[in-house]
Amino acid sequence: MDDSNFEDAIVSSWHKNVDAWTSAVRGAEIASRVTVTDAAIVNAVVAQAPKSVLDLGCGEGWLVRALADLGISARGVDVVPELVNKASARGGEFSVMSYQGFADGQWLTKVDCVVCNFSLLGKGIVRAVLLEISKALTANGHCIIQTLHPCYTGEPYCDGWREGSWQGFSFDFTEPAPWYFRTLSSWVTLFSDSGLTLKEMREPLNVETGKPVSVIFILSVATR
Ligand SMILES: C[S@@+](CC[C@H](N)C(=O)[O-])C[C@H]1O[C@@H](n2cnc3c(N)ncnc32)[C@H](O)[C@@H]1O
Repeated sequence: MDDSNFEDAIVSSWHKNVDAWTSAVRGAEIASRVTVTDAAIVNAVVAQAPKSVLDLGCGEGWLVRALADLGISARGVDVVPELVNKASARGGEFSVMSYQGFADGQWLTKVDCVVCNFSLLGKGIVRAVLLEISKALTANGHCIIQTLHPCYTGEPYCDGWREGSWQGFSFDFTEPAPWYFRTLSSWVTLFSDSGLTLKEMREPLNVETGKPVSVIFILSVATR
């Protein structure tokens, strides 16, 4: 398979796992989210004091709702219409948009923050999205990305596609998608290639193991 087959497999998998994913998130079935990463991403966004947020790859919409509860105006987009429907049914502003659409300039409003919570899973498409992000941000805006910490995954420490797995998830999940592993230095290079400056990096810990679960990058638009 080449890169574009892998990217297509990611989208195909999300189309097939709408119900399983929605149940897992809403039923608090993913322990690392409940204990560490949900609060970590909300805190990272709130710390930038944005008035408007775009949640890119919003899934069933929990983060948009969490931010709305804190008085922050947030909108979510995702490539899977059924996920967008599930999100909209609970209230809030959601629409269908693929990363390709975003990269092609379909998002027309400037926001104070673009947040990507465990939603940047591919290779070339992630580069294309990041290249467009600065155009979607207000002058002092931020892009905030949470992804699995390279130490947490136990993968060999080099960039490359990895086989997906739903290990630890319910048996309702099907067709695990491949995902693209990046070292921390590759992420940092990608940000600078995309006109973004790394302002802060957070490594939320599992207090029981003392190991980082995720990494959160807080980025601003690079000044020239
Ligand atoms: C692990 S889920 C995370 C969902 C949500 N951000 C959350 O925190 O619950 C990854 C999300 O990325 C979305 N996604 C993956 N590839 C995409 C693409 N090419 N365009 C738009 N959304 C995409 C999926 O549909 C899915 O909702």
